[in-house]
Amino acid sequence: MHPTTRIALITDIHHGPDLPTKRGSAALPLLERFAAFVRASAPDLVLELGDRISDEAPDLDRRRMAEVADALRALASPVASLCGNHDLVYLPAEENGALLGQPMRHRILDLPGLLLIVWQADARLAPNRGFALAEGDLAWLEATLAAADRPVLLATHVPLSGQAQTGNYYFERQPELARYDEQPAIRSALARCPVPLLCVAGHVHWNSLTLVDGIAHLTLQSLTETFTTAPAPAGAFALLELGGEASFRVEGNDPFACTLPFAGPRRRWLPPLGSTTDALGPDGAARVASGAVAAVQQVPAIAPGSS
Ligand SMILES: [Fe+2]
Repeated sequence: MHPTTRIALITDIHHGPDLPTKRGSAALPLLERFAAFVRASAPDLVLELGDRISDEAPDLDRRRMAEVADALRALASPVASLCGNHDLVYLPAEENGALLGQPMRHRILDLPGLLLIVWQADARLAPNRGFALAEGDLAWLEATLAAADRPVLLATHVPLSGQAQTGNYYFERQPELARYDEQPAIRSALARCPVPLLCVAGHVHWNSLTLVDGIAHLTLQSLTETFTTAPAPAGAFALLELGGEASFRVEGNDPFACTLPFAGPRRRWLPPLGSTTDALGPDGAARVASGAVAAVQQVPAIAPGSS
């Protein structure tokens, strides 16, 4: 019997001005609704995945960040936060951390039956450049996953799935802004993880489930986004219950729910075929030339599970 850990999730609060597809002025009232949800559901932890504000200017951002921090600190459960790109335009990570009363760095939280890895990979987004890991980000993740001795929930601001952005208001035409430049290396690190792994992220402002190499990736809709629920804001937050299964239920105007295996044996998909000109070796086995796919291929097809 697996212990069950209950995590309330919220992301992309975007407290700030009303924008064409973000109802920033509704952020604080919607946070009150989230506070009632946390009181009622009494989770072990609240996980807040970043983009607390829509950046405008240093003083405005500081005031709005403090207002969100006050709301988060008043919640009835402990809170773990990540920084998103909008949190870091005018306020450094250290100032985010000081306002939130949390260290804004990579962390491992020991929860019943699982490890929560809060991977604070560099979330700064510069014009004409997508997301790029900082020195040491990937090495930390690789070492932490390799040492994991129980199922892992891996939390980031930017999704790690490399999912298609078809239909996404922000990213269909610029999908490079919805993933890290180092996506192949990240994918390879996740594929080598020795224990069951579930990834959860914000940033892309929609609810989604993506399966890559047998690993499930969830994203949660933004609290104040309107592109999927116009003219109302989505008002989205979620409860993630993790035991033998993972149950993800999103509340608000953009509901979503799914249940997945979590703590059972780690399944691994066979590696994809290579290019059409170099797909099969003489024995019919996939032959893959280079890069991430080759790295994924080195993982044994079947490995003992951990529970
Ligand atoms: Fe966002």
